[in-house]
Amino acid sequence: MSRVDGLRLASAHVDVDAFAREVQYYLSLTPRQLPSRYLYDALGSSLFEAICHLPWYPITRAERHLIETYRHDILDFAKQPRAIIELGSGNGEKLALLLQDAQASRTAHLIDVSATALAAATSRLSDIPAVTIVTHQDQYEEGLNSVARLRPRGESALALFLGSNIGNFDQPDAEAFLGSVRTSLRSGDTFLIGADLVKPEPMLLAAYDDPLGVTAAFDRNLLVRLNHELGANFDLAGFVHRAVWNAEQSRVEMHLESRCRQAVAIPRAQLNVTFEAGERIWTESSYKYEPVAFEAMLQRAGFAPGRRWIDPRSRFLLSLCRVN
Ligand code: AVI
Repeated sequence: MSRVDGLRLASAHVDVDAFAREVQYYLSLTPRQLPSRYLYDALGSSLFEAICHLPWYPITRAERHLIETYRHDILDFAKQPRAIIELGSGNGEKLALLLQDAQASRTAHLIDVSATALAAATSRLSDIPAVTIVTHQDQYEEGLNSVARLRPRGESALALFLGSNIGNFDQPDAEAFLGSVRTSLRSGDTFLIGADLVKPEPMLLAAYDDPLGVTAAFDRNLLVRLNHELGANFDLAGFVHRAVWNAEQSRVEMHLESRCRQAVAIPRAQLNVTFEAGERIWTESSYKYEPVAFEAMLQRAGFAPGRRWIDPRSRFLLSLCRVN
């Protein structure tokens, strides 16, 4: 069973009609679903930032630690690139870590759909004197295409796709996305990607169903959005957040489970739904990889894996590849 694409497009400007159409379509599927990109409105993005600080969610800390520790090796392997391209730059924190003591002048291309994120990243990176910042408020593929058009001939580049965002893509989509990243880069460029690895189930479940309830709030905020933006009448207390490890598919799934039989109206999506007790809405998949399988996928997409760093405690992988 395949879920809707997990491409994380923080919804900076939500087209309400498109939102309504997608809700109508995905909530009518079996099992019922909602696209995970709608988790990221302003409140959802703040809750996600809070998740990154939780002791049970190791991805952000592990990745930060690896970048800080191996930043010289990364830039050396990438042959001190003149351009750095970050997909989903967020607040620019990881790029700032990578470039903190770099002296050579470089252009940093930041691609993000959120104007707020781009403004935050620009302000953070403007402290690094040798960096010229170019922002692309766009989705990943469109942003990559504009970067490709702007790059001077002969300019070397290092592209970054961090935060294990690749984990929110379903399997065929993940490889297709990597292939499109490869197409927008040039032979000899480098690509640094972060991926969360398979680890013991209790660690995975604590990361996606934390004892403070922050992830539950992040998940249930989807229902808040449906109520506010589409006029729905979800009773928030009527749905429980569930995190499930699907070992066969190697993914953690987030679901919202109805506590009882209940009817919900979503007027702007022209939809009435009756949820049975225990019926779920599948809201996100987060795939966990094994290093060898992950690198095989990178290879199939046109990258030659070069260096690999793993944070042993949290089992998080940073893979540095060369574009074939
Ligand atoms: C953004 N993405 C990599 C996060 C993840 O781990 O899949 C989103 C998230 N969902 C729940 N917690 C964090």
